[in-house]
Amino acid sequence: MTFTADILKLFDEKWALVTAGAPDSFNTMTVSWGGMGTLWSRPVVTVYIKPVRYTHEFLDRNEYFTVSFFDGRYKKALALLGSKSGRDTNKVALSGLTPKEITPEAVGFEEAEATIVCRRILRQDLDLEAIPDFAKKTYYETEAPHTMYIGEIEKIL
Ligand SMILES: Cc1cc2nc3c(=O)[nH]c(=O)nc-3n(C[C@H](O)[C@H](O)[C@H](O)COP(=O)(O)O)c2cc1C
Repeated sequence: MTFTADILKLFDEKWALVTAGAPDSFNTMTVSWGGMGTLWSRPVVTVYIKPVRYTHEFLDRNEYFTVSFFDGRYKKALALLGSKSGRDTNKVALSGLTPKEITPEAVGFEEAEATIVCRRILRQDLDLEAIPDFAKKTYYETEAPHTMYIGEIEKIL
C-alpha cells in the first residue's frame, strides 16, 4: 500500500495511536510527536514516549508496535486515549474503538484508516544534556525525557 500524507502535519494535527503488546495484553496511547523517513536505508517511523506512560512498558517488552491513523470522527476517542492511562482504566473500552489482531505480536483497530506495523530497530532515551533549553523548560522540569523508538515499517494496512 502507498502511504501519502503531509508529513509535517500528520502527527501534529491528525495524531495517532501507538499500540504495543499481544492481543491478550496490550496498551495504546495517543501521540502527536513522531516522524517517518529513512534510517539505515530502511523505511522507518519514529515516536517519542515518556517513561511515565504505561505504554512505555509495553514498547520495551515487545519488538513490535503499530502506529494507527484515524479520520476526524475519532478525534474524541484519541483525546480520551491520550488523557487516561491503561494502568488504571479500561480506556480502550471507554473509547469505543475495536482492537483487532494484526499479527500475534501486533494489535491495531478496526476503525483505523491506516495502520503501520513496525519492528523496533532502535530504542534510545533522549539525553537531557543534549536537549535545548526551551524544550527542557517546557517539557522536562518534572518528568524524565522521552524515549525515542524507531521502528522499521514492515507493513502498511
Ligand atoms: C494529542 C495528544 C498527543 C500526545 N502525544 C504524546 C507523545 O507524543 N508522547 C507522549 O509520551 N505522550 C503523549 N501524549 C500523552 C499520552 O497519550 C497520555 O499520557 C496517555 O494517557 C498515556 O497513556 P498510558 O499511560 O495508558 O500509556 C499525548 C496526549 C494527547 C492528548
